[in-house]
Amino acid sequence: MYARDSRCLPTFAAKTSAGLAGFITLRQHFPEAWEVHCIAVPEHERGKGVGTILLNYTESWLAEQGVRFLQVKTIAASSPDPNYAATRAFYLNRGYIPVEEFPLLWSPSNPVLLLIKAIDQCTADSR
Ligand SMILES: CC(C)(COP(=O)(O)OP(=O)(O)OC[C@H]1O[C@@H](n2cnc3c(N)ncnc32)[C@H](O)[C@@H]1OP(=O)(O)O)[C@@H](O)C(=O)NCCC(=O)NCCS
Repeated sequence: MYARDSRCLPTFAAKTSAGLAGFITLRQHFPEAWEVHCIAVPEHERGKGVGTILLNYTESWLAEQGVRFLQVKTIAASSPDPNYAATRAFYLNRGYIPVEEFPLLWSPSNPVLLLIKAIDQCTADSR
């Protein structure tokens, strides 16, 4: 689904000389409110700053268009999956604020945490 969506939704890719190092796909809900639809970095590239670069680039690209809020949904802490603890830490350390947990939005075994960040308009020309 994410591969298909990346063909029709705004998507940025990070590349190294070795090839694709990650991508981010975005959805617009309203002109001033967008969502990170998907962000992923291959396992061997994680922890090197690629995800941060993708988010920073996205935030400044959105700021240029006057976007005020970027939200992301991920798996909530009420899930025992340890992988998503690292994902939540990634967002928290980059200024995303937990807003609400939705236990049944995706499925009972995949409780959702909604996080949101106010886009700093001063980042518009910092890419
Ligand atoms: C979340 C993800 C996009 C972060 O990308 P990244 O390139 O590893 O992130 P960076 O190197 O810029 O930042 C590393 C930070 O992310 C955290 N992190 C999250 N998952 C990590 C992982 N698997 N390996 C290393 N660091 C990870 C680290 O704790 C680190 O935090 P800190 O810098 O605040 O101390 C990436 O780990 C990933 O693709 N994970 C699997 C897919 C996923 O969960 N996507 C989001 C779904 S909502």
